[in-house]
Amino acid sequence: PGLNYLARNSGKLYFGTATDNPELNDTTYTSIMDNYLHFGQLTPANSMKWYATEPEPGVFTFEAGDVIANLARSYGMYLRGHNCVWYEELPDWVTANNYTAPELAEIVANHTGTVVGHYAGQADAWDVINGITTTRNMIIFSYRYFMIFVEPLNDNGTFREDVFYDTLGESYISIALRAARAADPHAKLYINDYNTEYVGVKSTALQNLVKQLQADGVPIDGVGFESHFIVGEVPTTIVENMQAFAALGLEFAITELDIRMELPATVELYEQQKTDYYTVVSACMQVEQCVGVTVWDWTDKYSWIPSSFPGYGDACPWDANFVRKPAFDGIAIAF
Ligand code: XIL
Repeated sequence: PGLNYLARNSGKLYFGTATDNPELNDTTYTSIMDNYLHFGQLTPANSMKWYATEPEPGVFTFEAGDVIANLARSYGMYLRGHNCVWYEELPDWVTANNYTAPELAEIVANHTGTVVGHYAGQADAWDVINGITTTRNMIIFSYRYFMIFVEPLNDNGTFREDVFYDTLGESYISIALRAARAADPHAKLYINDYNTEYVGVKSTALQNLVKQLQADGVPIDGVGFESHFIVGEVPTTIVENMQAFAALGLEFAITELDIRMELPATVELYEQQKTDYYTVVSACMQVEQCVGVTVWDWTDKYSWIPSSFPGYGDACPWDANFVRKPAFDGIAIAF
């Protein structure tokens, strides 16, 4: 049985995947992805990011993003827009110009409104505010540094200092969320982040941010738990953490699930990975407000992990030859 079929049969909206434009030339890849059996939702891994959609001030390019949006539409899949405001993968012009607060506020509102507006009626949800370090930071800095280098919140619950926060303070978050709502009143608006998947100070800080936004009347519908985990180190408080967000009246989704292992892979690591995928998907099953699970690509052939976390890999439920791993069964059993 297909994973999306199982997810829907269990009351979830979808099981989905991230995908990226270059991979769509691989016909083996697309033949497995396109048939609505395993995947009922797509997220563009890169092609709706700021550098891709507004490479020059006020110059918008949607060709690559449209390819993914059209693919989702043609197969009746949900589409998650990813993302509007993130301190990484920005074009230089955003960071290099020392914009004043009013100027940057207008830039954030215009970027968010234009991109969300372009996909109005197509995107079911948007990662309006995104947070994670990228490849570049992860290679330059140690893993420990990576763990404390986050956006919009630091692990101690304070705000990350980036061009948006430095210039606009917390207001950049409400500016973007309001612009997104105005551009598409039907899309679910999310804050997407990592290290918020478990009980801890960063999760508490995100809950406090959400409460503040709600009190201020700022539109916020959901929280995305990225869920880039390590085999054998999946957090033990995922369900408890989800329940805390559910109590705020929010929906949430597992938005970027992958569970990497230190290479080389072994039979034991594959079995532990199966258990770990089961644990994460079961958590979503246990809390009604968890609407669905998205993997950050489904085959190891196109995973971002090996280039971003040297020495790690094999993070996806299908291997690089498109063969299902035990992890696939872990997901299937959990649904
Ligand atoms: C990753 C993409 O998968 C890579 O292709 C790209 O080089 C870097 O970004 N969290 C996020 C995603 O929110 O946007 C990131 O995607 C992975 C981590």
